[in-house]
Amino acid sequence: MGKKKLVVLTGAGVSAESGISTFRDSNGLWENYRVEDVASIEGWYRNPGLMLDFYNTRRRELGTVKPNAAHIAIAELEKEYDVTVVTQNVDNLHERAGSTRIIHLHGELTKVRPEDRCNDRDGFSEESVFDIGYGEIHIGDLAPDGAQLRPHIVWFGEAVPKIEMAINAVERAGILLIVGTSLQVYPAAGLFRYAGYDTPIYIIDPKDVPVSDPRITHIRNVATKGMEDFKKILKSK
Ligand code: APR
Repeated sequence: MGKKKLVVLTGAGVSAESGISTFRDSNGLWENYRVEDVASIEGWYRNPGLMLDFYNTRRRELGTVKPNAAHIAIAELEKEYDVTVVTQNVDNLHERAGSTRIIHLHGELTKVRPEDRCNDRDGFSEESVFDIGYGEIHIGDLAPDGAQLRPHIVWFGEAVPKIEMAINAVERAGILLIVGTSLQVYPAAGLFRYAGYDTPIYIIDPKDVPVSDPRITHIRNVATKGMEDFKKILKSK
């Protein structure tokens, strides 16, 4: 019998203690920028330069922060469980903490691609995606096929090509852990509904969670401390 399948669904809250601001907390990103201007496909057609600057800033910042104890604890779960991390985050902190199976639902901040690519079934043919690390792209920076380079991010108004892969993982999970997401952005926020009727769901968040479901245990704590509580619960099983 292989290791039990554990799916960890994460949002901005898991990276908060690394110093990356969340979106909807006080002073969050969406208090300082209009989503439609910097994170939507309409914003890209209106003012691509503004969008490139927004992601250049966030990419540069990512190079200055590091994974926190929550990312590391999630990576360490792989010793006991068959772990799939499904993250809404575009940072690379789960990778840098050592997690080995990560589904980025909303893209990856260090990656760019030609803007003319259309979605195929499960995201993008990898040869058209380039990792620029913490560098910048500007208007006029073109891909080999001559198209303008754009962030490899899923913007509001765009499809989420990896959602089916994520649903498959959640349906097979023996345990579902949700860390640091306000569960307000779909389709990611609906993923937990696909968990089996007898699959325990644990949510780590210092604030109230906007969902109710008999399978849910709310660990009211920040991610680093909540992961310690979660590991104790696993040990008591
Ligand atoms: N530890 C754990 N959770 C935290 C912490 C912390 N230290 N600090 C804040 N949180 C919680 C907040 O209470 C909130 O529930 O993290 C959640 C952050 O919610 P959002 O800011 O809405 O971030 P997220 O849910 O990831 O947003 C989803 O929205 O804008 C889009 O594409 C963007 O992926 C993002 C999506």
